[in-house]
Amino acid sequence: MEKKITVLPGDGIGPEVIASAVKVLQVIGKRFNHTFHLGYGAIGGAAIDQFNNPLPDETIAMCAESDAILLGAVGGPKWDNNPTDLRPEKGLLKIRKHFDLFANLRPVKAFPSLLASSPLKREVAENVDLMIVRELTGGIYFGEPRKKTATGAVDTCVYSREEIERIIDNAFELARLRSGKLCSVDKANVLDTSRLWREIVEEKKKLYPDVQVEHNLVDSVAMKLITNPGHYDVVVTENMFGDILSDEASVITGSLGVLPSASIRGDSFGLYEPVHGSAPELAGLGVANPAATILSVAMMLQYSFGLIEEAAEIERAVSAVFDDGYFTADLAQDGTRVLSTDEWTDKVINEIDTSFVSESIMISYI
Ligand code: IPM
Ligand code: MN
Repeated sequence: MEKKITVLPGDGIGPEVIASAVKVLQVIGKRFNHTFHLGYGAIGGAAIDQFNNPLPDETIAMCAESDAILLGAVGGPKWDNNPTDLRPEKGLLKIRKHFDLFANLRPVKAFPSLLASSPLKREVAENVDLMIVRELTGGIYFGEPRKKTATGAVDTCVYSREEIERIIDNAFELARLRSGKLCSVDKANVLDTSRLWREIVEEKKKLYPDVQVEHNLVDSVAMKLITNPGHYDVVVTENMFGDILSDEASVITGSLGVLPSASIRGDSFGLYEPVHGSAPELAGLGVANPAATILSVAMMLQYSFGLIEEAAEIERAVSAVFDDGYFTADLAQDGTRVLSTDEWTDKVINEIDTSFVSESIMISYI
């Protein structure tokens, strides 16, 4: 298979975790005979510095020519006082909107060897395997009017029926492929957008009689994700609730540093990025955890290219390195070896390469 990927390293630890993920992608390409053509573009603070624009037209054009986008992270204190349109985050919001990537999938799955790093008791955190489906191109992130003056500020939460319908369909379909359980999260006791959301879920559920649906209020989900995260499978929610709940859910598994994401729109095109941010305080130290970005590559292989076996191989390799007791600093536990970003990445790569060698030896014996 031949695919074109636009790589957008971004800011902070973005370039470091992207370098790791690209290495893993190349090893997978070699092992499974795929050619991945990579083009690098600018986004976020790096793009502001170079082009005075967090999402330059050149970057958009490159992405439009590609089969998928792999993104690091954006943001940092250097640009914190910039006007809204010249903030790194604006680049991320614009690229999601420009390519209509309305469905953000954020899987949260416990790796058994990371459970000691979870703030929750082992018996609460183990067996967690949920998927947050976050609406990504609507709601309060994009609604108008929005403005700030010296005397006040306004943001607006807007959702059209169509925007809600498509994300709900997406979540039902995903629930069908998983355990058949869907939890829709809203704030229908207060917000009209939530009342419309709930109404649409009720309508849609007739089309998916095999899926068991429940409605939960967002404040209650925030609590239950800590007390009983194993209850959830597919969780669908609007943009801002999804942003908050996905950070909360991510630490259940031990570290935000291991959570990947896919932003998709119904065809095979997608944007893949770690859930974590640019962690500017860690930038350049070689200590960042590249697992989330490496696992985002696995999601890209699976969702955009349909390469299920290759995606599973990345997940297996990451899991095996954790099982061998190798961690980056964010996951350090007593008695484990703390590796740098590059050293940890090399372990993953060796894992993928070595199994290739041993497999071919097995075949020649048979
Ligand atoms: C995320 C991030 C972004 C968001 C920011 C950086 C704009 O927190 O991807 O979760 O809020 O969507
Ligand atoms: Mn977030």
